[in-house]
Amino acid sequence: MLASGIMGETGPSLRKMAEHGPGALVTKSIGKEPREGYPNPTLVELPTGYLNCMGLPNPGIMEFADEMPSALSAGLPIIGSIFGANAEEFRDLAIAMEDYGASAVELNLSCPHAKGYGMELGTDPSGVKGIVSSVKSSVDIPVMAKLTPNTERLVLVGEAVQEAGGDGVVAVNTVKAMCINVEMRRPVLSNVTGGLSGPAIRPIGVRCVYELYAALDIPIVGVGGVENWKDALEYMMAGASAVQVGSSLGRKGLDVFREIIAGIELYLNNSEFNSIVEMVGVAHE
Ligand code: DHB
Repeated sequence: MLASGIMGETGPSLRKMAEHGPGALVTKSIGKEPREGYPNPTLVELPTGYLNCMGLPNPGIMEFADEMPSALSAGLPIIGSIFGANAEEFRDLAIAMEDYGASAVELNLSCPHAKGYGMELGTDPSGVKGIVSSVKSSVDIPVMAKLTPNTERLVLVGEAVQEAGGDGVVAVNTVKAMCINVEMRRPVLSNVTGGLSGPAIRPIGVRCVYELYAALDIPIVGVGGVENWKDALEYMMAGASAVQVGSSLGRKGLDVFREIIAGIELYLNNSEFNSIVEMVGVAHE
């Protein structure tokens, strides 16, 4: 799947990504009102990933209605990523995404730097339970929660999602991080801190998926630094039923989806596994 945050803000960009082989597309996180995001600099390219503090820029849920027909015309499931400040906002956004034709919603409970959103809500298990329950009782499409690695309570939060009837968890969102410009003697990002993505965080993501798989019965989607078929298999062997790809589209190009799929197929054909499903969680055995 295409991960949230990359090429997912407009219908045409989502449609373009569909041409490159993913099985599903996750939108940029959409909120209630339009948001401009933070002033630049909001992105730093590092040797092993990106550090960003976009600030949840998005057109708002009403405007996003105009993007969905062209996104849906690609013929792939569209997963609507949404962020809210409370359970009511998440509920209303999920209802709208369902009306627009989304196949599932991904609750962004994990943006590492937006005040009053994301990780601030997503590290409190009882709050998470309330948000997921509220969304679950209002829509029929599957509800997944995207979790933050920036907490010791990861498994408790995952359990809260499961107890609330959540259909899956997505692990992980970006790792809270910062860079300093030594010449300027100042933080590089306008917001001081941001979220680190890319290969730098893959071992963190794999560890989180492994811990969640040991504790949960609902499916897990692995994300964070997947750049090739081996990375994808690492997540699957830790317990992920699917993976998402984000930063590597910028680092390696749009062929990465097809390269990952071809590599997994080759691996499967040369292994004793009959299907990819048999590999999920094998590292636990
Ligand atoms: C943003 C949102 C995220 O969920 C994240 O991990 C990083 C950045 C953002 O829009 O600022």
